Amino acid sequence: MSALFSPFQLKDITLRNRIAVPPMCQYSADEGMTNDWHLAHYTSLARGGAGLVIVEATAVSPEGRITPGCTGLWNDAQAEGMARIAASIKAAGAVPGIQIAHAGRKASANRPWEGDDHIAAGDARAWETIAPSAVAFGANLPQVPHAMTLADIARVKADFAAAAQRARNAGFEYLELHFAHGYLAQTFFSSHSNRRDDQYGGDLDGRSRFMLETLAAVREVWPENLPLTARFGVIEYDGRDEETLSESIAVTRAMRSGGLDLLNVSVGFTIPDTSIPWGGAFLAPVAKRVKREANIPVASSWGIDDPIEADRAVADGQMDLVMIGRAHLANPHFTYQAAQKLKADRPSWVLPAPYAHWLERYRSSAAA
Ligand SMILES: Cc1cc2nc3c(=O)[nH]c(=O)nc-3n(C[C@H](O)[C@H](O)[C@H](O)COP(=O)(O)O)c2cc1C
Repeated sequence: MSALFSPFQLKDITLRNRIAVPPMCQYSADEGMTNDWHLAHYTSLARGGAGLVIVEATAVSPEGRITPGCTGLWNDAQAEGMARIAASIKAAGAVPGIQIAHAGRKASANRPWEGDDHIAAGDARAWETIAPSAVAFGANLPQVPHAMTLADIARVKADFAAAAQRARNAGFEYLELHFAHGYLAQTFFSSHSNRRDDQYGGDLDGRSRFMLETLAAVREVWPENLPLTARFGVIEYDGRDEETLSESIAVTRAMRSGGLDLLNVSVGFTIPDTSIPWGGAFLAPVAKRVKREANIPVASSWGIDDPIEADRAVADGQMDLVMIGRAHLANPHFTYQAAQKLKADRPSWVLPAPYAHWLERYRSSAAA
């Protein structure tokens, strides 16, 4: 039996297979509100057979958006729009997940196809960014953020908890906290961006405090029986990889003790100048190490678009879930076709009955 197409249980949720669509920003919202594009997009991904579809980085506050086109969950009207999306993903047979996020100093940016840089100061669409310290990312994101006060930190943690509660009320069954990619939480963790000398900076305890306290605040409102997960950049590829990785594994262990159910292993992206070894499944060995040393289920992505490679990643114990992003944008039925390639397309593993029944007959008549 294909490992990739075996079901996966996490808390009370069972995924029909090990393929997940990772969060991918659409930059197509207005004031954080989703629209028919989001509904069509997420429904098509779920209909294609993935076990889990995670809705894009959704900001916990207006200032936490990457761009003016990012989705939000800071008010109930946004939650109503998200409820339609969650219900539609579920109707198509996938588990509806969502990533909640705060972009920190990478916020107030133009959409990627409009520059991917900070919105110019003085432009009415720009806003002040916040971060642990007044240190800019550099390169195309030069805006110096406002160093957060303790009151700012308390407010953002409360915003995460409120967004998590709205996500639950909207019908999402899987939550991912965005602690990666150089956004707010990751900048607390990294000494490249965290220069604080209070309890939120300095040693590992200080630099991981924001993540652990945010997790704890969310844990209080997110149901115990549903998966609570995070995406975390465990490595930067900046020449200090062993040190960062061992710190990341220690923090992951602490998060597991704090109620984390799975880690989506990713890259830090905290500084622009790194030597990331782009290329098929480059993070898979890192994911395997985190899984083993932190003793937690893991997911990962980046360049895995071959079903045989994805199947091997699960069979070899490198990851429990394989996140396949861009290949799904190119082909929303990627998962269904992967099942055919691996000869694992038993209907319940990939498609709901109204498709599976007829496609089965269609294929056997074509083969006869
Ligand atoms: C258009 C686009 C938007 C993305 N938005 C997010 C996001 O909202 N949150 C996140 O954690 N990663 C985001 N990512 C990264 C993806 O989740 C994924 O890790 C990345 O595309 C690598 O996987 P892949 O090689 O299978 O595409 C985005 C990637 C793309 C291509």
